[in-house]
This record gives sequence, structure tokens and C-alpha cells, in this order.
Amino acid sequence: MLLACLISSRASNELVQENPEKRAQQMLSQMTLDEKVAMVHGSAGPYAGNVPRNDRLGIPPLHLEDGPQGVADGVKLCTCWPSALTVVSSWDVELNYAFGKAMAIEQWLKGTNVLLGPMVNIARVPMGGRNFESYGEDPYLSSVMVAQSVLGIQSQGVIATAKHYADNNQEFNRSSTSANVDERTQWEIYYPAFQAAVNAGVGSIMCSYNRINNTYACENHQTLGIDLKTRMNFKGFVMSDWGATHSTVDSANNGLDMEMPSSDFFGEKLKLAIREGKVSSERLDDMVLRILIPMFSLGMFEYQQTGSLDVDVRLPEHAILARHLAAAGTVLLKNKNNILPLDTSKLKRIAVIGNDGDKDPVIAGGGSGHVIASYVITPLQGIRNRAGPSINVSYAATEPMEIAAQMAASADVAIVFVATTSSEGEDRRDLYLGGGQDELISKVVSVQPNTIVVVHTPGAVLMPWESSVPAIICGFLPGQEDGNAIADVLFGDVNPSGKLPVTFSIAEEQIPVNTIPQYPGIDNEASYSEGLLVGYRWYDAKRVAPLFPFGHGLSYTDFHYDKIQISSSNESVEISADVQNIGQVFGAEVVQLYIGYPLTAGEPPKVLRGFQKIFLQPKSVQTVNFSLGKKELSVWDVSIHNWRVSTGEFRVYLGSSSADLRLTGSFTI
Ligand code: BGC
Repeated sequence: MLLACLISSRASNELVQENPEKRAQQMLSQMTLDEKVAMVHGSAGPYAGNVPRNDRLGIPPLHLEDGPQGVADGVKLCTCWPSALTVVSSWDVELNYAFGKAMAIEQWLKGTNVLLGPMVNIARVPMGGRNFESYGEDPYLSSVMVAQSVLGIQSQGVIATAKHYADNNQEFNRSSTSANVDERTQWEIYYPAFQAAVNAGVGSIMCSYNRINNTYACENHQTLGIDLKTRMNFKGFVMSDWGATHSTVDSANNGLDMEMPSSDFFGEKLKLAIREGKVSSERLDDMVLRILIPMFSLGMFEYQQTGSLDVDVRLPEHAILARHLAAAGTVLLKNKNNILPLDTSKLKRIAVIGNDGDKDPVIAGGGSGHVIASYVITPLQGIRNRAGPSINVSYAATEPMEIAAQMAASADVAIVFVATTSSEGEDRRDLYLGGGQDELISKVVSVQPNTIVVVHTPGAVLMPWESSVPAIICGFLPGQEDGNAIADVLFGDVNPSGKLPVTFSIAEEQIPVNTIPQYPGIDNEASYSEGLLVGYRWYDAKRVAPLFPFGHGLSYTDFHYDKIQISSSNESVEISADVQNIGQVFGAEVVQLYIGYPLTAGEPPKVLRGFQKIFLQPKSVQTVNFSLGKKELSVWDVSIHNWRVSTGEFRVYLGSSSADLRLTGSFTI
């Protein structure tokens, strides 16, 4: 939170330029057909995507670079941030803004002016290979945080790209599968984060590889032309994912504004289509305007790029921020008998166990979003640094397990680090940690009752050993400051306040998409037949208790909720409550507001409609206020293709997670 001010940057108000539309129109009026066509076609190298400079008219080149966890695509000498899933676990809007802003600063210094992120697809399938890049399973949480990332990125004069539009929720057969989604589900589950990006002024949206209701996403009139450009009122440009274009005329006429490599459907083919009248010159003008407007409005004609990919952009304040983000996004899942935080006055020997602890720390996911870390503070290093010379910190890798168990048995406490990762291009086969890591935990805990398990993962994992382990922490993918961030939490220098953005299931059979044949689809058709029942909505509707619910996360202190007040008028509702820190230490609570719509609305039992993160000293109390407007009280009505306020009795739940509801009430609209 406080670190945002540490980041050196250009003041965002310097960048907001006047009359971008008018200036774009003037520029367009001077452009030849060839110049226009050149502007809507990117090529590969040296950046992931490159649109050439127009020397005659002084239009700067576009350098497009991944991605959502820092400068990617094999580029070096930059910060390897925690994954977006870690940052969103902080439920801290200011941190999400700071994250976007800091990433954009590095991209700009590297010469990038279009950042290929945020990745805003909903984590529908827990095995999804790209869930680590996402903002989790809930559209409301995603929307709030995605908007902050976009604002942060664009505050630095870098165009943000919300990707992948739309319904790119699995990697399995991603280029051939049709995501078959009904209209209401689109608007209530899969579109809100894109709408939030549009409302935040995002310059660009990337259409995805998959088909949507049988038409490719980059030539889909319904999703691009009607939903995105008309109903969501998106004014920026749609770029294709790399190789996601399949046609010239259909793509151009249905809403694609810029083709990225390696396909070649724009360029000469587009010029021919225009000459033959198959694509109108007005449509080409629209494409170019949509690109020029964000360039003008973000100041690209005033602040010319001078950066290049080989510049070292590892700013010292970014290392501090990366550590802060990773610690703030760490979730304390379980803490029986308050075994944590570690009490250095009582400890003599700590055993750090597992490959993830030092030998092979997992800090990032794979694929286009993969960032090359220039250093990694391993958990062992972080713990040794913090523990100091009076505590012996020993280490054993996962194998041989007998040695690991012996070392654990002879220490005062064992901290087992386990991990798994995933990558673009393929989903995880299952949600197990794999590599004998479950066995390792069972062996260690059978000889050492004071066992803490730290999990690094790109999404939910199964924990068959959960009931036998007193303390469990999840940091998702923590980035280069891995060890420092986890030491901050283990020793209580940072009181954990992260909350899960995804549900953790008890067992494989419980995972929603395993219960019905909808994933990965049949004959390349993935029916989203679960409709609105994504993530915790499914668990609630089926009355199934997961292992760790959405929104769950403990603290080293406790919070008491009291005095809920609800007042409603027609179409708006005010809700407030008092929250007190009743423990011994400073801490933060994420107060979550869920509402249950009138039964006639056909909604899941409850949905997140607000949250506030508050920081409280022991004994202090804060009143939290929520305001629900028309939008929050509406559901998508397919008969009018628009939002409509539901009428009847709404239920209100305020709580510390989606399952730990402390105060309830109701109101009637
Ligand atoms: C990914 C995009 C990425 C692009 C450029 C594609 O494979 O799906 O997310 O931005 O490559 O690297």
C-alpha cells in the first residue's frame, strides 16, 4: 500500500492528452492506404509484436511485449514479480494499481509501449494452465482488480491489453475448442472483467484462440461487434492473439482491428479485400482510429520511446515492492494452536524441507508470461537471514525422504516447502502436487508434530494430508522475492492478510468440472453447462463444503464483526458494520460482502458484491460502508439484452470468507 509512492514514475496527469479523437482524425486524413494497412499488421521480433514507425508522418512504432508478471518472452534484467494470482490474493486495490504501474515502468524502459496484460480470463477450470496469470474465479473480484491494473499500467503511458477475449478458460485444445456459453453466463461471469477494463479506459483487447459458440473469437461478430464494441462501448483496438486470425474479410468486418504474427491475413490480403470492396475503407479507417486514439491519449506522440530490450530495469524499489506484494498475497490457510508465527525466543533448530525450499524453488509459471528471474531468494535463504545466528536452520531436499524425515524429527519445527507449476499451452493433468511431495509431508508430520507446510502453486491443489498438518500457507507463485516474503510471514513481521481468489477442493471428485462432462469438452465442443455455477457458486448451490473456501485466509489476530445496518431505497442500498481487531497484534481484514438475490432471479445462492481491506491496531474498531447501486442489484436479462434490477427480498452476508459469514440481514427492492 505505502510502497506505491516509492515508485519513481512520470505523473499520470502529464500523460492525459487533449482531443485524442480529433488529433487521430487529423492524422488519419493524411494517411495513404499502404500506411493504414501497415498500422494494423504486426510482425515478430524483436518485441513479441511490432508495428513499424511511420517516418513520413512521425507515428511512433508500437512495441508489444508480454506480460502479466513482468517483462517476459526471454527478456532479461527485469523484475520477476509474483503472479497476478498472488497479487490479487492480497485483495488490496492499491497494491494491484502499484503492481500494474511498476510493471509498466519496466516495460517502458525496455522500449515497450503496449503491455500484453492483464490476463483477465476467469479461473473456471481449476486445472487451467494459465490460472496463475488470472485474477481468480470470481467476476467481481477480478473486475475491481483488473481495473486497477489497467489504470496502473496506463498511468505510465503504456497501453494495457486485456486478454484473452473471450472464454479462453482452458489450454487443452485451446485453438480448436468451441466454448459454448449462453448469453447470461457471458455477461455475469466471463465479460465483467473485460467490461471493467473497458470502463478503466483500456487501450487494447486481445481476442483469443478458441472458438465461441462455434465461431473463432477473432472473427466473431456477436462477441466483438455487438458485445464488446457496441454493448460494452469499447473504443480501443482489438488485436489478435498470436496466430489466432483465421480469415481476412470475416475478421476485418466482424471486429478485428490488428493482426499479430504469425498469421498473415491482413497486410496485402487486406489491401486486396479493400480494393475489391469486400472490406470497406471506412472499416479500415475505424481500425486505424482505434489504434491512434489511445496512442494520442496516452501521450505517445509527446513522449517518444528511447528504451530498448537490453537495458537493465531492475529498480531497487521494485525489489522491495515485489517482496511486499508476495507477502501481502500470501494466504494463511490453517494455524492450529497458533503454531505460527515462529517464536524466535523459543526456537533452536528449524528444518527446511523440500526441493521448493532451496534446490528448485517454484516462483513463476510458464509460457508467454514467463519471466526470467535474475535472482531468487530461496525460502532457505530468507529463513536463515531472518532467523539469525542463534537458530540453526538445516535443509534437506525432497529425496531421500528418510534423510528429510530424520532432519525434521531432530528439529523444533519443520517447514516443508512443496510446489507445482503450470504453463500456457497445457492444463495441469490433476490437482495433485506430484513428485512424491504428498508422501514427503506425511512422512515428516508423522515424526514432527510441529510441521508447517508452505505450498507454491499456480492455482488450487489437493491436500490429502491436510488434517494431519497443523499449519498451512499458500503463496501461489511468489516471484524473485520468494524467500524473503515467506520469512516475513512465518516470523510475523508481516501479519498475513491474503484471502483465496479460488476455491480449494477436498478431493478430485469434488471439483465442479469433474462432475459433469464439460471439461475439456467433447469433440472440441466445451459446453459451459454449469452456467453461473463457477467456483464457490457451484459449491454453494450443491451444498458441498470445500477444503478451503473462496475468500478464506487467516490472520495472527482475530476480528469481531458487529452492528450491521442496512438501509435501502428503490435501486440503492447502504450497508455498514463495525469490525474490531480483538487480538494482540496489528492486522488487516478483508471484509467481504455477498448478496443473495431474490429467488426468482435465478442466481446462485450468493455472490460477492463488495469487499474492503481494513488495517487495524489491536482493540481499534472501524466502520465499513458498502453501497450497492443499480448495477450490483441487477442480473442480465436476455429478453432485453441488458441489465435489469431484480425485485424482491435480497439477503446480505458480511464475512471473513465466502463460508465464514459473520453478519446477515436482508432488504427488499
Ligand atoms: C499468448 C498471449 C501472448 C502472445 C504473445 C500467445 O501465445 O496466448 O497471451 O500475449 O502469445 O506472446
